[in-house]
Amino acid sequence: MTSKSFFLGIDVSTTSAKALLIDEAGNVVATGSTDLALSTPKPLWSEQNPYEWWDAAVESIRSALNQAGVRGDTVKAVGLTGQMHGLTLLDKAGKVLRPAILWNDQRTQAECDEITQTLGLERLLAFTGNKALTGFTAPKILWVRKNEPEVYAQAAHILLPKDYVRYRLTGDFAVDKADGSGMILFDLKKRDWSPEVLDALQIPLEWLPKTYEGSEITGVISAEAAALTGLKAGVPVVGGGGDQAAQAVGVGAVVSGVVALTLGTSGVIFASTPAPYIEKEGRLHAFCHSAPGLWHFMGVMLSAAGSLRWYRDTFAPGRGYDDLLAPAHQIAVGSEGLLFLPYLTGERTPYPDPLARGAFVGLTVRHTMPSMTRAVLEGVAFGLRDSMELIRNAGLGQIDQVRISGGGARSALWRQILADVMNCELVTVNTTEGAAYGSALLAGVAAGAWSSVPEACAATVKTLSCTAPQPQAVAAYEGFYAQYRALYPALKPTFDAVASL
Ligand code: XUL
Repeated sequence: MTSKSFFLGIDVSTTSAKALLIDEAGNVVATGSTDLALSTPKPLWSEQNPYEWWDAAVESIRSALNQAGVRGDTVKAVGLTGQMHGLTLLDKAGKVLRPAILWNDQRTQAECDEITQTLGLERLLAFTGNKALTGFTAPKILWVRKNEPEVYAQAAHILLPKDYVRYRLTGDFAVDKADGSGMILFDLKKRDWSPEVLDALQIPLEWLPKTYEGSEITGVISAEAAALTGLKAGVPVVGGGGDQAAQAVGVGAVVSGVVALTLGTSGVIFASTPAPYIEKEGRLHAFCHSAPGLWHFMGVMLSAAGSLRWYRDTFAPGRGYDDLLAPAHQIAVGSEGLLFLPYLTGERTPYPDPLARGAFVGLTVRHTMPSMTRAVLEGVAFGLRDSMELIRNAGLGQIDQVRISGGGARSALWRQILADVMNCELVTVNTTEGAAYGSALLAGVAAGAWSSVPEACAATVKTLSCTAPQPQAVAAYEGFYAQYRALYPALKPTFDAVASL
């Protein structure tokens, strides 16, 4: 046993609930992880059971404390992060009313249209900074009201996934401003709920949790939660952040000029902004940052490393990624004329379209598995470049560094393809559990280990490898990227027609 102090980050992601313990110098001491199941009861639907989030979080916290061999009372503060946008509805006794409707659920296009009509696109953008997209929370609330009135009639609380775990840890209904702004019920400039938007959509303010900055204390561990988790009752729990904002803290994207590229199931390009900037057509998400006083832009691609996982599971089940990717090194830029469109679960940025679909275009008898593998890596890189171009044109000034993280970032080949397609240097950092790590840093700031979020990042996040763009490949990719850009507009009528068959 040791008398040191620790901070805990809890990440309620779509695939697992993680608990990450760091010490006062920011070193990772232990990680507990418990898998979560996903349910897709109908096409376009994606749901999870909130009770499973809680059970998995409890198991992971206990496992992290056990691994580290530390007593629960050495944990001085807890931070939360998790999948964004998921609608969790509770009744007045705190009982979960239906499975949570997740960020990647695509059932709500009609409700998005209704929101845009009710508020008008201009007002919606001016208040919330965003268009209504199927991934976001507000249209999910309208969907339940219309399709499950008996559930809606019992609703008393609306929470995001990690905030359901917060509720079970502390008994409080609270949300951080980063995740809150992803519900599209926020006044982006005021960093709080928008009475105008709530009125227009007829959603009661009292159903929504109180909002806090990422490093602000929202409540303390209850006696009941302490008994279950091994943590000490009374320990502060901080706001934390939605997974992308917390990930940005975890890799140090909290200053202008540093962009975070996350290559996980989804793919994200994230840039901090010093004020609540709004992209004029709402093509980039504009949310609050979990670093107090900052906002951010981000482009979100729904199937990034998720495309590679689908490809591996479908065409080479059981094969390791290193083994699958190795032969793709031998294939030249452009995969011998083969293009891959990665819209396997619809898309958000730059085409917010639940009906967008994936495609291989340009197949010939010459193509083999290695060229198809390379085409998947390149297609995802082209999709991320779409978001990078929007960020480059958003008037934020120079991008000094792009920090890459997430499972896909482990591949040197994929990093090189991304650097060449985007014509920028990519660096990796020492923090691999970005979001959980970021939320643990936010807890550390609240406990006084660091005086601010940027200071916490500067003290703990170090850059490791650097992948530079190769001029010849950069030039060669320009032509392929132009053809990739032409594919969605050309195929859109086909996607719509096939969906209506
Ligand atoms: C961000 C988004 C995803 C989820 C899943 O807008 O929808 O990143 O948070 O992790």
